[in-house]
Amino acid sequence: MLPPHGGKLINREPRTTNTREKLKRKAKELKQVELSTGQVKHLQNIAHGSYSPLKGFMGQNDLKKVIKDRTLEDGTVWTVPIVLDVTQEKVDEIENEGEVTLVDDTGIQLAVMDVEEIYTIDKKEAVEGLFGTGDEEHPGVSNFLKLGEYFIGGPIKLIRGGFDDYYQYLLKPVETRVLFKEKGWEKVVGFQTRNVPHRGHEHLQKSALEVADGIFIHPKIGQKKAGDWKDEVILESYDILLDHYYLHDHAVMSIFPADMFYMGPREAVFDAIVRKNYGCTHFIVGRDHAGVGDYYGDFDAHNIFEQLANIDIEPLTFDYAYWCKKCGQMVTDKTCPHSMEDRIAPSGSKIRGMIKDGQRPPNEIMRQEVAEFVTNQKSPFVVEG
Ligand code: ADX
Repeated sequence: MLPPHGGKLINREPRTTNTREKLKRKAKELKQVELSTGQVKHLQNIAHGSYSPLKGFMGQNDLKKVIKDRTLEDGTVWTVPIVLDVTQEKVDEIENEGEVTLVDDTGIQLAVMDVEEIYTIDKKEAVEGLFGTGDEEHPGVSNFLKLGEYFIGGPIKLIRGGFDDYYQYLLKPVETRVLFKEKGWEKVVGFQTRNVPHRGHEHLQKSALEVADGIFIHPKIGQKKAGDWKDEVILESYDILLDHYYLHDHAVMSIFPADMFYMGPREAVFDAIVRKNYGCTHFIVGRDHAGVGDYYGDFDAHNIFEQLANIDIEPLTFDYAYWCKKCGQMVTDKTCPHSMEDRIAPSGSKIRGMIKDGQRPPNEIMRQEVAEFVTNQKSPFVVEG
C-alpha cells in the first residue's frame, strides 16, 4: 500500500473523551467563525486525513503556490484551494484572537482553529489560474467569486464531524486502509463519480479490475449544480448495481463528502491524491473528468499528470467508452474498428434528458435494474445548485 500524500496520515481528532471535553470547554470561550456546508466537509476531511498533508485551512503562501505552480509551498503537489473565507466584519472581530471556534450554520461547535494568518487575494486572478477561466457562468468560478474578501489560514482540531448525511456509507482513510489490507488487496483502484452509474462507468471499473485486486467506488457527495443527480439517487443506484453485477470481495463503495469544484484536470489530480490517502494505488481518469460545459478538453485530465511531479498513485486513463452494436459490447477507439454510426454513447446528459422525458435508458447504456430505479424517482435531479 502507498504511504499517504506527504508521507503521514493526518489525524486532527482528539483521541480521548478527556481531550475532546477540554477542547469543548475552550471552544465555549472563543469567538466563532461560521462555515458553509462545503467548508464543514473540508474540515472533516482535513481532520480524518483525507486531505493529508493538510492540517488546516490554507495560508496565503500555500494558496498562491497552488494557483501558480499546483503545489503547496513546500513543493508537494496540490491542485485545489482548501480555504476558509471571512468578511471584513469578521476580521475586525477576530483579528487579535489567536484561536477561534468553527461552527456550522446552526451554531454547533465543530473545531478549534489556530488562526495563523488573515489574508486577502485577488479572486479574479485566482479563478483564472485555478479554473483556466474567469467566466462566471462556470459554476466553480461563480462559487469562488462569491467567497468573502478575506481568508484565514491555520491548523484545526476537530471537536465533532459536522457532515452527517449518509454517514452509514462513510469510511475514513484509516478504516479503508485496514479494510483493503484485510481483504488482501494490494492493487486498489479508486473511482470518482458524481453520477448514477452507466455502462461506460462499469466498463472502466471492470477493465481496471481485471488487472487489480479491488475497486473502491467513491462518489463525491455534496453540493452540485442544478440538473445533476441527487446524492441519494447516486448511492441507491450504486447499491443496486453492486448487488447485481459486482463481487463484494472485489468492490467497496463509500462516500467522499465534498462539493464539486468542476475544475477538470486540477480536480482529477486532487481526486487521485485523496484516493491515495484512502489507500488506493491506482485511479481511473476517463473522458472529461470533473469537467463542465466545454471549459476543458476531453483528455486534459489525462495530460496534467504528465506535467506534474510524480504523485505515486498511478492514473489509469481511459478513452471514451461506447456501446458498439456490431461488437455487441462496450468498446473504445482502441478496441473497436466500427464507425460512430454503430455506436451508442452513454453520455450523462443524454441519460438525464431521457429520464426527464420519461424514457427508460436502454440496456446498452444503463443496466436495467438501475434504469428502472431512476425512472421511478419523482425528482432525481438537483433543483438549485
Ligand atoms: S466526474 O466527477 O469525474 O466528472 P463522472 O461520474 O462524470 O464524474 O465520471 C466518473 C469517471 O468516469 C471520470 O473519470 C470520467 O472521466 C469517466 N467517464 C464517464 N463517462 C465516460 C465515458 N463514456 N467514457 C470514458 N470515461 C468516462
